[in-house]
Amino acid sequence: MDLLDPRPGERVLDLGCGTGVLTGEIAARGAHVLGIDGSSAMIEKAIAQHPGLDFIIGDGHDFSVAQSFDAVFSNAALHWMSRDPEMVIANVREALLPGGRFVAEMGGSGNCAELTAAMSTAWREYGLREPEMPWYFPTPAEYAHRLEQGGFVVRILEYFDRPTPLDECPRGAADWVRMFAGSLLAGLPPEIVDPLLHRVNELAAPALRRETGWMADYVRLRFAAVRR
Ligand code: BEZ
Repeated sequence: MDLLDPRPGERVLDLGCGTGVLTGEIAARGAHVLGIDGSSAMIEKAIAQHPGLDFIIGDGHDFSVAQSFDAVFSNAALHWMSRDPEMVIANVREALLPGGRFVAEMGGSGNCAELTAAMSTAWREYGLREPEMPWYFPTPAEYAHRLEQGGFVVRILEYFDRPTPLDECPRGAADWVRMFAGSLLAGLPPEIVDPLLHRVNELAAPALRRETGWMADYVRLRFAAVRR
């Protein structure tokens, strides 16, 4: 939010706004903000929790907006837009005024490496096909290149570990998988899901379970780029 530094009167697009928590913060700083998210359930909650703010349903791959923005902001959402990152960047550019800022944080290369390694091993032990993770976690060099190719000047790009307590996951990695990788469980025989996730917990615990609770091994890319 500080990297975005929204100014009173600016027009900001919050891409992948979820339930609108940060959209509300941007508005509180005096900017005019539009929240957009691909999930209708999230947008319903955002509208209910932030009356007076504008939200629309839209996917990063194919959204378009009637008016141009001073800034596009995105937090913990770009890694879900994994089908065609170049198209997402092109749509962001299209939504911005010349000189407009693209400020975002997303998962970077190596994000959740322990969690996903535990999943792969458990899936293999249960005789299941290697799970195809639904996220895009680029290296800093890869994403900077995409931004430059897509018509942006990269001003700041940070790449750092951000261990994150799994406060909403009392059953640790198992709950995290249910919450964030539910699509990978959908096609499995229902009777193996509990034991499979129990095994994920056993495999992930040495790296991720602390005395104080579970900690996810998040790695972040945070950047500010300007439309050429
Ligand atoms: C994250 O890094 O924010 C994240 C990664 C995968 C699933 C959910 C969240």
